[in-house]
Amino acid sequence: MIAFSLFETHISSLQQQVEQALSQHDFDALLIGSGHTKKHFLDDTHYAFRANPHFVRWVPFLHESADCWLLIQKGKKPALYIYAPNDFWYQSTPLPVDEWAGLFDITLVTDPAPALMTQENQRYAVVAEEPLHNFSNKFECNPDVLLNTLHFDRAIKTSWEIECIFRANCCAVKGHAAAKALFQKSIVPSSESSLTERALHNRYLQATGHLDHELPYNVIMALNENAATLHYQHKSRSPLPVARTLLLDGGASYLGYAADITRTWSASAVDMPQAEQAIATVFAAIVKAVERLQLSVIEQIKPGLDYIELHRLAHQYLVDVLLSTKLLAQCPPTDEVQEVITRTFFPHGLGHFLGIQTHDVAGFQQDSQGTVKAPPASHPFLRLTRVLEEGMVLTVEPGLYFIPSLLEKLRADAAGSFVNWDLVDQLKPWGGVRIEDNILVTATGARNLTREAFALLDAN
Ligand code: GLY
Ligand code: MN
Ligand code: MN
Repeated sequence: MIAFSLFETHISSLQQQVEQALSQHDFDALLIGSGHTKKHFLDDTHYAFRANPHFVRWVPFLHESADCWLLIQKGKKPALYIYAPNDFWYQSTPLPVDEWAGLFDITLVTDPAPALMTQENQRYAVVAEEPLHNFSNKFECNPDVLLNTLHFDRAIKTSWEIECIFRANCCAVKGHAAAKALFQKSIVPSSESSLTERALHNRYLQATGHLDHELPYNVIMALNENAATLHYQHKSRSPLPVARTLLLDGGASYLGYAADITRTWSASAVDMPQAEQAIATVFAAIVKAVERLQLSVIEQIKPGLDYIELHRLAHQYLVDVLLSTKLLAQCPPTDEVQEVITRTFFPHGLGHFLGIQTHDVAGFQQDSQGTVKAPPASHPFLRLTRVLEEGMVLTVEPGLYFIPSLLEKLRADAAGSFVNWDLVDQLKPWGGVRIEDNILVTATGARNLTREAFALLDAN
């Protein structure tokens, strides 16, 4: 368990933030709904429940409880209404007795739209996906002005949140280690391997102790060419004749907070058929080079750094990687040509905020009023355009992929003349590389939560 004092401090800082935001925007209170379970179309089975992140931030211990409400008022203990119907179909949330519960005034309710202890002549802001049926016009649903302030505040994590994200990392690395071991054990030279993405996924779940629906996002378990699909969504059950690459982008959750980690491993030359041994060595060198690039980028992180500049720096470093691995026959003469090439091999953003949501809020938001800075037009998939501040948690996830559709476009472009196409064609069956760590911006630099978690795992 995380020290209770961290949670206590977390709640008192949230109370302060919300009270200030309410005063600023002329509200008397904030009402947050945990959310509702949703049914599949024409069916009576449900989608996995995912709580409103605003609710999770206040009540992480009930992140699996639907239809709960939290009422935050100035100068009062937050009032928590826990939905606990007399039900014999589903198990109701019991009255919590742990220490955290003492920070809330708790009422068990049997109505998903309970009568709340509200007062006349007060103005309530509601943050919820679906309104209560008894809302009157004194309730304002999801007001932008307030959401902008709350989202902006969420970019700076409290010590409690940082510890939750770290623990999510500690859990995810167990899954990574287990899947890596299975991948490496299953590479059998010149014979049919029994390795499947499905078996790797099951091993990942077992090692993290997670069920699928508890993961913060669908694990990307991509073998060989599949590693070239950035968010590859399947878990193939067919064993592959040759296992070359495993790209694993897998997270874990701790009390509703996410880890988002990617590692790429490849078969070593000795485990490959004779004809593929040379290219196996080249791909292994590419994996190492991307990892060095990632670590060099992380070294630059400190408060005051513009994340767009960091993304651009990663593209500059990638030119060196492409040259050193001989994917580029010669250095392209201008930044423009270089970028046409690097965006082909690395088409996504360098990273994003991380928190309760894997792609956490406010990555584009420049102030509490909601001013947004879009990513540069030539880098439309970048999800973070902020200047870094102490307490932000973000990912750094450069990649280098062999994506047939993008490569064909480049081949047809003048910039394509710098590329060693023979080597590119040999590397397509290896898919690609991504290396992703979760980073806390500290007062003077960065704390790498992912590598700390791996080091702890190795030490135990
Ligand atoms: N796992 C999704 C991402 O890395 O953004
Ligand atoms: Mn990510
Ligand atoms: Mn990821």
